[in-house]
Amino acid sequence: MSGTPGNPRGAQLWGGRFEGGLDPFFETFNRSLPFDRRMVDDDLVGSIAWAQALGAAGVLRQPEVDKLVKGLQKLRAACAHDPELPARAADEDVHSFVERELGELVGPLARKLHTGRSRNDQVATDLKLWLRRTAAGLDDALTELMRALVELADRTAALPIPGYTHLQRAQPITAGHHALAYVEMLARDRSRLADALRRADTCPLGSGALAGTAFGVDRAALARALEFRGGPTRNSLDTVGDRDHVAEVLFCCSMVMLHLSRLAEDWIFLGSHEARLVRFADAVATGSSLMPQKKNPDALELIRGKTGRVLGHLHALQVTLKALPLAYDKDLQEDKEGLFDALDQTVACAKVMTTVVDTIEYDEERCRTAASGGFLNATDLADLLVRAGVSFRDAHERVGVAVRRALAHGCELEELPRPILQELMPEVADSLARELRLDRVLGRRNAVGGTAPQRVRTEVRAWRRRLAR
Ligand code: ARG
Repeated sequence: MSGTPGNPRGAQLWGGRFEGGLDPFFETFNRSLPFDRRMVDDDLVGSIAWAQALGAAGVLRQPEVDKLVKGLQKLRAACAHDPELPARAADEDVHSFVERELGELVGPLARKLHTGRSRNDQVATDLKLWLRRTAAGLDDALTELMRALVELADRTAALPIPGYTHLQRAQPITAGHHALAYVEMLARDRSRLADALRRADTCPLGSGALAGTAFGVDRAALARALEFRGGPTRNSLDTVGDRDHVAEVLFCCSMVMLHLSRLAEDWIFLGSHEARLVRFADAVATGSSLMPQKKNPDALELIRGKTGRVLGHLHALQVTLKALPLAYDKDLQEDKEGLFDALDQTVACAKVMTTVVDTIEYDEERCRTAASGGFLNATDLADLLVRAGVSFRDAHERVGVAVRRALAHGCELEELPRPILQELMPEVADSLARELRLDRVLGRRNAVGGTAPQRVRTEVRAWRRRLAR
């Protein structure tokens, strides 16, 4: 790092004021290049737009703008070609890296680029640009996962499994209906993300350090050049200290992870030896180093485990922002690692879950058996009595008695001896056996939102249309 005239301490962007050097340990502590280098392309894109804005404002002459832009584009190509280039540099942060490299390409002219700009509005802009393109990757991963779940729903539209409340078997449902429940959750996640991104879609550049820029930059044109559809931000103080969009995207990631962790837990439970209703493919399970017989659902457990980590990132940022004085404070540098990791982990989990969905197998025979027994059709028997004119309360009571009798007999409701049925519920004794059949129980729940195979197939068709590429 060679010294430059007017900047005797060398590489720092702020050396003039200082005589002594940085404590070496603090220098490392202070550096953000090891992680903010992920925004190098965004910093370059923002810098190109800024150079052009300075030109349009008459602050730079056109040949200067052209030379700066050419240099920045060259650096962009170099970083695209060699993504580790910033990783090898010793600069304080990604902004210092870009300015120094630009200096090597265009000479002292590079020292004009930062006119009217601060790293505070610069980093806010970089982060929003990064967020926009990275969130697109998350949206893609969620869409792929939804497609996989819709196809699983199609394969299992008519497959009965026990549905649970309180983790006690409650009523039969179809496995397809279970899969589509997660499609609904992920659809809300995508809409939440789109909403957060829409609110984040304003351009911070031109806010200066905190008070705005003193040069006559056309911020609306700048926002257009950087494709921020909401135009420029309206208050510089707010802008340089605003990380609402980071918190919102972290919340979006947290909700995705909450949903994935619930699916993970559902299937870990259904795959346990106690249930044995699903099997995991070898591709997403691992064994034990000690117990040769083991096959563990590690993919799902890791997804469940990483949920805590992503939720932690949201909480960490909220605590960092709490009571943070206006405008910019260096605390805000702590926003990035959590955000980057949250998006990395959430995208990775969505991808791994997609593989699990593609390869999971329901044990059809065991599923059918599990959904057939244990009085899961008791509600349907009560409904049958209701259709015969009995009030639901009375029906509930009488079916409860019937369940007790069946328990004593060691049989299902529909297997109760004829005389008992005649005694307990003469109204339905004839139709009961037919109406309590599993296919009838499922098929009746055909109203919108229900678990009936026909309804699941209708929903599958609708989702396929909505998710068509
Ligand atoms: N590395 C800093 C960050 O991530 C960039 C902004 C630094 N601004 C400053 N005034 N020190 O927030």
